[in-house]
Amino acid sequence: MNAVPPPSASQIAALAGLLPNGGLLTEAADLARYSRDWSGDHYGRPLAVARPSSVEEVSALMRFCHAERIPVVPQGGLTGLVGAAVATDGGEIVISLERMNRIRSISPIDFAMVVEAGCILEDAKRAAEASDCLLPITFGAQGSCRIGGNVATNAGGFNVLRYGMTRDLVLGLEVVLADGRIWNGLKVLRKDNRGYDLKQIFIGSEGTLGIVTAAALKLFPKPTQIETALVGLRSVEDAMALYARARRDCSDLLTAFELILRVGIEITMREGQGFADPLGQPYPVYVLIEVSSGGLINLSSMLLGFLGSVEDIVEDGVIASSRAQGERLWLYREIMVERQGRGGRYLRTDVSVPISRLADFVSDALVALEKSRPDALAVTYGHVGDGNIHLNVVPPEGMGADEIEHLFEEAEAEIFTVVDRYGGSISAEHGIGRVKQKAFLERIDPVTLDLAAGIKDAFDPRHILSNGRILAPAAALDYR
Ligand code: LAC
Ligand code: ZN
Repeated sequence: MNAVPPPSASQIAALAGLLPNGGLLTEAADLARYSRDWSGDHYGRPLAVARPSSVEEVSALMRFCHAERIPVVPQGGLTGLVGAAVATDGGEIVISLERMNRIRSISPIDFAMVVEAGCILEDAKRAAEASDCLLPITFGAQGSCRIGGNVATNAGGFNVLRYGMTRDLVLGLEVVLADGRIWNGLKVLRKDNRGYDLKQIFIGSEGTLGIVTAAALKLFPKPTQIETALVGLRSVEDAMALYARARRDCSDLLTAFELILRVGIEITMREGQGFADPLGQPYPVYVLIEVSSGGLINLSSMLLGFLGSVEDIVEDGVIASSRAQGERLWLYREIMVERQGRGGRYLRTDVSVPISRLADFVSDALVALEKSRPDALAVTYGHVGDGNIHLNVVPPEGMGADEIEHLFEEAEAEIFTVVDRYGGSISAEHGIGRVKQKAFLERIDPVTLDLAAGIKDAFDPRHILSNGRILAPAAALDYR
């Protein structure tokens, strides 16, 4: 698929010259770390890895790559799940933002911080906390993912129901364009209605329109109280009824409402160490609830009062009596996510439907899956408040690679058919990249495609940025 010849030795030497201090890596041993993503599923060896330390260096790199038509792919923490940031094997130069990891400023008065793209999310969150603020982007990979990747993928996570997606949390961006020009849209203004909101074009563009080098992010007051509960329920329908009540009765203090079907709890009990059945006896469905607030509210009595008022729905539950216990309840979810595939490949889906239809969707999708592939294990969990479900499919033990591929195709088609029937999205928060591209292009309407292709041409006229992601046909993904 790579129509462009690989860069010549003299081009590589020129790139190295643009990056003093060993910024360009070309040795096979050095490239390994940038060749495989966190899921372990996707592999692609870059032709070289450029590690700029400043926006000016990114700009110089892009000016050169644009002039010479050298394909590049920007890379953050490699924790994305759709194969967008891994190089097309042997066909691209990776531009890793890892050296641009400074926090440029934090203002508790503006409730804003300006962070470079390579800053690890958890480091940015810690810095915000040190200023008594909260950067609310929260999910499992936060210790490895980088802010630029969060912006480029419009990352979601656990707290979207209260604070929104990354898109809702960006006040401004600094972006290096395909031709090397720097677009300075870094600002911390809360209101700015001057024409097109260009930053939104880059958010979620997965590296195809520009390279995010820094972001101005919205902060919130750091909660001084956090309460966590895990409850057991009879059905997903009951979980939805509970959510409707929680949304009204917990005011806007609800920060997470995570659904886990029984299989997920069993995975943690089997794979984690010392994880007993959390409620003593099994329930078909569990919900992790978190509320948080500042100091003037009696949060623990609010949660207790709320759970007391929903005894008609909730079968049993436990409220964490300390932060450590709360964190341990979250481990039931985290360990499930990490260990669901038993170290092997599994099909990840990331779909959304209107919240009002989530219970019916889950029921229909599980029935369809069970009918077509009773041999597979369905692991279902998700973000109820966002109508977003991960319905993952784990192959039976001992299945060969070709059979697994076939199973994934069949299972995904079954699930997506139900998603279509519910007017849902085949990618709620993980993006398109290369993994979801086929399903995305099969469903895109011609007007959307036309507009999107026009945007790509306007921002990257020579198509050197992250080719084969989202719109343009991808090279086959390597699952080595
Ligand atoms: C989660 C990520 C993988 O919900 O989307 O755990
Ligand atoms: Zn998720």
